[in-house]
Amino acid sequence: MIVLGIDTSCDDTSAGIVAGGNQTLANVIHSQVAVHHPHGGVVPELASREHVRNIVPVVDEALKHADIGMADLDGIAVTVGPGLVGALLVGLYYAKGLAYVLDKPLIAVNHLEAHILSIFLEAEHPPFPFVALTVSGGHTSLYYVEDFGCYTLLGQTLDDAAGEAFDKVAKISGMGYPGGVAIEKASRTGRHDSVKFPRAYMSKSSLDFSFSGLKTAVSLFLKKWCEDPSLSAEISLNDIVASFQESVVDVLVDKVMAAAKRMGVASVMLAGGVACNNHLRQCLVETAGPDGIRVYYPRPAYCTDNGAMIALTGYHRFMRNDIAHMAVDVRARYPIQDLMSES
Ligand code: KG4
Ligand code: ZN
Repeated sequence: MIVLGIDTSCDDTSAGIVAGGNQTLANVIHSQVAVHHPHGGVVPELASREHVRNIVPVVDEALKHADIGMADLDGIAVTVGPGLVGALLVGLYYAKGLAYVLDKPLIAVNHLEAHILSIFLEAEHPPFPFVALTVSGGHTSLYYVEDFGCYTLLGQTLDDAAGEAFDKVAKISGMGYPGGVAIEKASRTGRHDSVKFPRAYMSKSSLDFSFSGLKTAVSLFLKKWCEDPSLSAEISLNDIVASFQESVVDVLVDKVMAAAKRMGVASVMLAGGVACNNHLRQCLVETAGPDGIRVYYPRPAYCTDNGAMIALTGYHRFMRNDIAHMAVDVRARYPIQDLMSES
């Protein structure tokens, strides 16, 4: 069973081809960073236009990598949400066209489920049940994962996503866009305990997150730092962003551990763009290890948005006979609870 997976939910045009539900034959990602960079963030209209320009060559390249033809595909999986409506429409209508012309099943995929299942693209993946933290530019959520298609939301951000905080702090500190990679790099030569930024744990029992207060605290500190030469002589910009990163990582690790203990699981996994962060990976492994909890995370190319995770998720939906109607539409909001109530 060979499935093509297409994702155009945000600013990457991606196509992946997965055989047998776990063997990646191709994973082609066309990044739009250069297009959005001058604007300091994703411009939805530009993202849609770029997807229109790139979707055909990206899918063609994936087929070439996999060394197969269109006729070898058994199903066409595509992200229908959540994401930017104009961007999602490009992928969905292209996928509908392919499915119709090739007379193959169309499979509608929830992008959040795909991030959770991305770990199954790796040979080493956790046994069920496990706790998943999906942490990206748009989402910061904790799930209890009992099986393929069986997820319970345990907590989520009440305001900014962690990746959004990375991007905003990178922007105000002049480190550019996208912010996560730049901040991680700068933090390597910064002192992570030089500024004590707030950590929003909410109530003791809460598994929700909040990062907007932290972003404001960094912004206020940077203003003071620019105006006070004695402060800037004592603390470097890299110290500030390292302290910011430490604050985000502390909260993420704390909540993942609290969720794992509450649900009594022996495995946790990280997914989404922020899961590329080596400091986060390392801190979680160091904290979870002594408690007998094993940490899993996919390689970076499977953490950020990619077509392979859409193909893999499409495979599992197909196996459950979950084929989409040609009238299926995109969904800007598509919480995982909706996915559960549909099945
Ligand atoms: O999953 P993704 O590619 O797209 C979304 O669905 O949002 O995640 C992108 C986010 C951006 O906010 C980016 O700054 C963040 O992931 N990111 C990182 C790192 N690499 C990417 N954040 C922290 N450290 C990184 N190394
Ligand atoms: Zn994503």
